[in-house]
This record gives sequence, C-alpha cells and structure tokens, in this order.
Amino acid sequence: MNRSDQQNTSPIPGMNSEGSLTFLILISAVAAIGGLLFGFDTAVISGANAYIKTQFELSSFMEGFFVSSVLIGCAVGALVAGTLSDRFGRKKTMILTAILFTIGGLGQAIAPELVTMTIFRILCGMGIGMASMLSPMYIAEVSPPNIRGRLVSLQQLAIVSGILIAYMSNSLIAHTDLVNALKWRWMLGAEVVPAVIYFILLFFVPESPRWLTQSGDSDQAFSILARIAGNKVATNEMTEIKKSLQQEKGKFSELFRPGIRMALIVGVSLAILQQFVGINTVIYYAPIIFKRTGFGAASALGATVWVGAINFLFTLVAIWLIDKIGRKALLIYGAIGMGISLFMIGLLFEMKAFGGPWILIFILVYIASFAASFGPVVWVLISEIYPNKIRGRAASTATMSNWVANFFVTLLFPVMLDALGAPISFWIFFAWCIISLIFVIIVVPETKGKSLEEIEESWMGIAPEEV
Ligand code: BGC
Repeated sequence: MNRSDQQNTSPIPGMNSEGSLTFLILISAVAAIGGLLFGFDTAVISGANAYIKTQFELSSFMEGFFVSSVLIGCAVGALVAGTLSDRFGRKKTMILTAILFTIGGLGQAIAPELVTMTIFRILCGMGIGMASMLSPMYIAEVSPPNIRGRLVSLQQLAIVSGILIAYMSNSLIAHTDLVNALKWRWMLGAEVVPAVIYFILLFFVPESPRWLTQSGDSDQAFSILARIAGNKVATNEMTEIKKSLQQEKGKFSELFRPGIRMALIVGVSLAILQQFVGINTVIYYAPIIFKRTGFGAASALGATVWVGAINFLFTLVAIWLIDKIGRKALLIYGAIGMGISLFMIGLLFEMKAFGGPWILIFILVYIASFAASFGPVVWVLISEIYPNKIRGRAASTATMSNWVANFFVTLLFPVMLDALGAPISFWIFFAWCIISLIFVIIVVPETKGKSLEEIEESWMGIAPEEV
C-alpha cells in the first residue's frame, strides 16, 4: 500500500492524518496468535499421542476419539464465536479464547485420568474453533481493503507456525530425560506459555472499528481507523461501514437465496474437501505413520519436524503466488501434487518399501502441495466469496463444516489403518483429491484481482443491491 498517498490529506484539520502500517501489522500479529494456538493445539497431540496410548492402553477407536475430541469443541467454538463476538465485541471474545487456551492447556497437563483430560481437551477445542473464526475476522475488520487479502493469509502462516512449534517442542521434550508418563504432560502443557502471552497482549489491541460502529460508538471507531489508515481512508471507510450496516438485514435465510446458495455450496464444499484430502492424518498422526515405516519413537518425532518446516515454507510460496497465478490454479496444482504423492505413499506401503527415504519424501511432497494450495486458499476463498451482508454467518457455516469434516477424518483414520491397512487408506484420500480436482475445475470461480463487489455480482449475475 502506498501510504504516502494517504498522508497529509486529512479532511479533518488538526487530526491525525497519517496511518500507521506498523500499528496495523502489530495488532494483526497479536490477533494471529489465535491462529498460532490453533496450529499448536491441533498438532501437539501427534507427539503426546503415543505416550498416552501406551499409558492408558487405548484401543484404536479410543485413540481416534481422544485425538478428535478436541474437534467437537472446535465445531462448537466456531458456531458460537459469531454470536458471542457480535454481542460482546471481538476483543472480549478473543480474551475469552485466550482464557480457554490457558485453562485447557493447564488442565490437560495435570489431569489425573483420561476423562478429565478429554474434557480439558474439548475446552481447548472451543478456543481453537473460536480463534479460527475470530482472528481472520478481526484482521479483516481492522484492515484497509487493499491489503486485507495478504493480512488474512497471515493467519494460515500463524497456523503452520503453531504446528511447527508444536512439533519442535514435542521433539525437544521427547529427547529429555523425563519419564514417559511426564513427557506428554509437558507437551500438552507447553501451550500455556503462548496462551498467557496472547491473553496479556490482547489488552493492548483496540476493539474492531466495525463492531464499535455497530454498537453506536462511531467516534471511537473513527479514531481507531484513523490511527491505522489515516483520516482520509478512515472517513471513506466509516461511510462504507455505515452504508453496509444500513443495508444489512441480518437474516440467516438469505444464505439460501439462489446465487448465494451457490456461494454457500462452494465454501462449505471446499471447507469439507480441505479435510477429506486427508491433511490432518499426516499433521496429527505423522509420528505414527513414520513408525509404521520403521522409524524409532524419537526419530519419528524428528522426521515430523520436517513436515512442519515444509508446511511453513510452502505456505510462504502460496502467499507469494496467490495474487499472481490465482486461487484456482493453486488449487488445481495442489490437488494434482497431493493426488500423486498419496497414490505413491499407498503403493510404497503396499510394496512394504520401507528401506529408503521415499515414504518421507512423498509425505513431504504431499505436505508441500497442500501448504501451497488447499491450506491457505480455502480460508482466503471463504473470507472473500460471500456478499458483505452475510459474510459472517456464511463463513461461520463453512468454518463449522471444516471442523466437523476434520472430526470424522481424524476419528476414523486409526480405525481405517487397522481395518483396511495403510495402502487402501491412503488411496481413499487419493480418490478425494481427484474429486477435489474435478470440483475445483468445474465449480470454483477465480477471484484473483476482483473486488469483493465484483465477486458478489458474479454469483449468477445477481446485482449487489439485490442480494
Ligand atoms: C487446516 C487445518 C490443518 C492446517 C495444516 C489448515 O488450513 O484447516 O485443518 O491442520 O491447515 O497446515
């Protein structure tokens, strides 16, 4: 963004005419810690899992249930975050999220048995589900339109950073002299550190100007927008916000109108497909997969750090390419890359070819393909394909579908591995890549370079004012 264009052009003499990009980046970064905790909390289980399974003698089903229990909380969190944050504000709801992460992390670390631990895990899940809605929404609401896309993509970078930190902290803890019965407690409890930092920093971020305007505090909203983007942009944005608030009907039934219905189908389907291509079987169960190929427990955790590092690096590739080659091209290349690698992983398991590095290599190709495509692109599309008026509710529906789909895949994966074996399990995810590829080619629109209003209009030619 060319900030100099906005400087010294204040329509209100004597007021702060310059915005502060640094301030905007700082408050977006604080909000994105919610994404970091989302990533950390969902991935940390991959390292703790094996110790817990042994200590509590879990069956495959119980293991799947324990790992996926967090996702029940996520779905509930995603569902209630919209309503809570409309009522009490974005900031207070994010603070609640930080409290859930802290209590959940602490509770899991000291829980005496599995039921108590599962309850605290579900509590953490509610924090994750809420953060998955709130962080991108808050960033979008404080950002000027021209850099909103890039800043929203940072959320995925925060998620994958959280995953990487979880893998590294798991690997570090696994290599300590602690007894096994304590290792998993430290792994799960480690999140308390970022959660408390998140809690403290949230007191320094401003409330969302959009929510403040909605609750009648336009003066405060204006001063926050002016601090972020300068007076001129703030004045224009205030006009837009007020206009859109006047137009909003706030009815859930609007989601099912023709045109919008199609947008809803695209968003919900993409959210589900993002999970059905099997990403979290690797993210949550990577050490178990590596152990099946002959790695020892600690070196399996080491190999898992590679998964996190590649995930992080290729998310940067997506951020670099998303506005150049477009969302659709990334999704197409990603589905092809994931499909080929899943097919090969299945084949290598079938041939019991565990000697060389090939399974690890194809798992890394798979992760790279996901990270550069379905990972960030699905969240970006969910945040941009819906009309202004119903974006919150529509995005909430898609986000919840993502968590429910995640729950089923995660729950069933260990059972699938036991009942069908690794080759067929991976080929099932391969089949979902083909379905995703066809869906993207036929149904998903390209939104690169279009304004949100142009996207809105493109849904079956419905003019924005009719929506
Ligand atoms: C997905 C998560 C996944 C993560 C992996 C996100 O976009 O929603 O389910 O664990 O990417 O990087």
